[in-house]
Amino acid sequence: MFGDVYAGRRVFVTGHTGFKGSWLTLWLLDLGADVTGYALAPPTEPSLFEAASIGAAEAGRPKGTGRFTDLRADVRERLALGQALEMAAPEIIFHLAAQPLVRRSYAEPHLTYETNVMGTVNLLEEVRALAASGRGPRAVVNVTSDKCYENAETGHAYVEGDPLGGFDPYSSSKGCSEFVSAAYRRSFFAKPEAPGLATARSGNVIGGGDWGEDRIVPDCARALSAGAIIDVRNPAAVRPWQHVLEPLSGYLSLGATLWRSVADAGDEAKQFAGAWNFGPRRDAVVTVREVVELFIDAWGGGEWRPALGTAQQPHEAGLLVLDAGKAERELGWRASWSVVDAVSAAARWYAEFYRGAGPDALLTHCRADIAAYCDAAARSGAVWAASEVPT
Ligand SMILES: NC(=O)c1ccc[n+]([C@@H]2O[C@H](COP(=O)([O-])OP(=O)(O)OC[C@H]3O[C@@H](n4cnc5c(N)ncnc54)[C@H](O)[C@@H]3O)[C@@H](O)[C@H]2O)c1
Repeated sequence: MFGDVYAGRRVFVTGHTGFKGSWLTLWLLDLGADVTGYALAPPTEPSLFEAASIGAAEAGRPKGTGRFTDLRADVRERLALGQALEMAAPEIIFHLAAQPLVRRSYAEPHLTYETNVMGTVNLLEEVRALAASGRGPRAVVNVTSDKCYENAETGHAYVEGDPLGGFDPYSSSKGCSEFVSAAYRRSFFAKPEAPGLATARSGNVIGGGDWGEDRIVPDCARALSAGAIIDVRNPAAVRPWQHVLEPLSGYLSLGATLWRSVADAGDEAKQFAGAWNFGPRRDAVVTVREVVELFIDAWGGGEWRPALGTAQQPHEAGLLVLDAGKAERELGWRASWSVVDAVSAAARWYAEFYRGAGPDALLTHCRADIAAYCDAAARSGAVWAASEVPT
């Protein structure tokens, strides 16, 4: 998979203790990468990182899988970040550390901008310094969001060249992170020996091990496991839904392609250094109510009701759909799971957790999900192997 680019590769992941970061770290380790994670403590209790012992999983990992270094530090601290990068000497970087919640961004805009914007600046500054000394990475993937687009709420599917914006502080911070990346790419990373820098935009994801606030699938799991009725804020709202493994396969595909193309082709590689959408399948754009009902079916029973007090909620952006045509055409990536596949996989994971499964069982479950996803991707015609992508 991914043209074997990750086997034995030194990879730096910021935000590895988070929901997406934990899945990505596990996947990279199983691909044989030597991963250094840099993040604060897991942001929720429980968390996938702790529940599945992602950090301690090395001992039980199959032969041939990679090594893991777990660093706990802040992306706002440039010195610490620089020292970690110096020590890890990564060949590929995935930047996921962020304050990722829209509602929290209304309460803590300064923290959100400091983390999401200056955290990105700090990372790229340190990458620039490493590159100047000839020890820089070859590929950097900055994970932003579909919310970086100026959402005109017209139902138009956004392509990478559409205007950026963002109504709330979180969305705008991700737009800013895009602008920062574009400026560094043009100003400092245009030379052949500089890293290929790409940004990856995807929407809300679901999957086992997310306990983020104000996310409907974790809300379903929390309520049903407690025998409670699920309170649903906006049942009629139509949203794109995607399993976490979908964008992660996109980030891995992008990282592999950037790495290989920089290695093979020098400045030709810069064709992959840019922005990429990793959106769900068209049939995965459905109402919140449908997702809740699918979750209840997969769980084996339960009830939901419209939540009270929705009039006082902060502004929530309307439907935003991504056009992932560029990733399909140029990376061979495609969204492979239907909304039923995605919701059922998530529900099965949470059911196992709430039945009391321990770290080994949950890790095995995560690996089985990754294997099932890879099978579906192969059936859907996803290419993924960087070697097959024309440069
Ligand atoms: N989950 C989604 O639906 C979604 C959708 C689009 C984009 N994203 C983006 O994907 C990335 C990961 O999201 P997630 O859902 O896994 O979030 P998460 O909250 O589960 O994880 C965030 C990670 O960032 C770390 N972090 C936060 N502040 C930090 C700081 N100051 N210094 C160092 N580390 C810090 C946390 O410790 C954690 O490891 C984020 O950049 C987010 O904006 C997420």
